[in-house]
Amino acid sequence: MFSWSSIQRPIVALAPMAGVTDASYRQLIKRIAPEVVVFTEFLSTDAIHFGAKRTLEMLNFDPAIERPFIVQVFGHDPDHFLSAAKVIEELGADGIDINMGCPAAKVVSSCHGSALIREPDLAARLVEATVKAVKIPVSVKTRLGWDSKETLIPFCKRLVDAGATALSIHGRRFCDKFTGKADWEPIYALKEAVSVPVIGNGDIASAADAVEMIKNLDGVMVGRGTFGNPWMMREVVEALRNKNQESRIMNHEQLRPLTFEQKIPWILDHCELAVRFKGERKGMLEMRRHLSSYVKGFDGAKEMRERLVRVEKLDEVREILSI
Ligand SMILES: Cc1cc2nc3c(=O)[nH]c(=O)nc-3n(C[C@H](O)[C@H](O)[C@H](O)COP(=O)(O)O)c2cc1C
Repeated sequence: MFSWSSIQRPIVALAPMAGVTDASYRQLIKRIAPEVVVFTEFLSTDAIHFGAKRTLEMLNFDPAIERPFIVQVFGHDPDHFLSAAKVIEELGADGIDINMGCPAAKVVSSCHGSALIREPDLAARLVEATVKAVKIPVSVKTRLGWDSKETLIPFCKRLVDAGATALSIHGRRFCDKFTGKADWEPIYALKEAVSVPVIGNGDIASAADAVEMIKNLDGVMVGRGTFGNPWMMREVVEALRNKNQESRIMNHEQLRPLTFEQKIPWILDHCELAVRFKGERKGMLEMRRHLSSYVKGFDGAKEMRERLVRVEKLDEVREILSI
């Protein structure tokens, strides 16, 4: 059974990202860096509790590829956390992560996500309800605080006392949304104050950033840095795991394409995965943002992007990329 305390260090995780970390993206990342822990997009405990078809479909994963597979959930009703947790465990997930960091107005106004930082009693009850429901580990992803960083340690201690067995911390407060630079200092201090693994998150844009920022932490979590560059996860794993022997980023030609031509088979793989999971129409619509991130930094990229953001069929991508 998966456990946060026994998984190999340093932990490298793909950040949960709504609209991004669906099965196709997670599987692409796992092909590139099998060591990575993958999280789903955040899913509503209310929707899982009521059996909403669209949300249940988002729980589909490939157990042969996506391990450890962590399902991230949000909500505010402990009973719904309890029943959603049971559904998630039955599906074979390795862990459940509770979102206490999303700053989106719609989420916060319903007392979900970051709003829970201001409701530590309720936050602890949600963890307790989830832990009570399942045997798989329960973790929390949160931010430094609401408008202060001083609450991070007491808040996280409450969560650990309630049964959380790992913490991922995005180095921004609710009030920062996505502005400014992530501050990892409070995360290092948190690690000294709690007994569970602590994973740092925020603004890792290269393997060198990961090496510099990990310090005393158990791992790093990378989100936006992978956009258009999923191969970065390979570099992060290799840089962190070789850190103690030799601080050198290995160059796996095959897993780390250097030219745009070398990236094309991977981009097509990503499109094929998206089509397999979502059907051609929806899959290609959702691929548009990824295609636009992949196609950058060479002559003619702008013109190619303009065509790719209008594609509806996989064959159109094949044709546009056949340069
Ligand atoms: C498009 C997008 C969607 C996100 N969705 C989620 C989510 O569903 N759950 C969550 O905990 N955080 C979510 N986040 C926040 C990321 O997990 C991460 O904390 C944040 O992007 C900072 O890390 P980064 O600088 O490596 O991207 C999202 C971020 C982005 C950009």
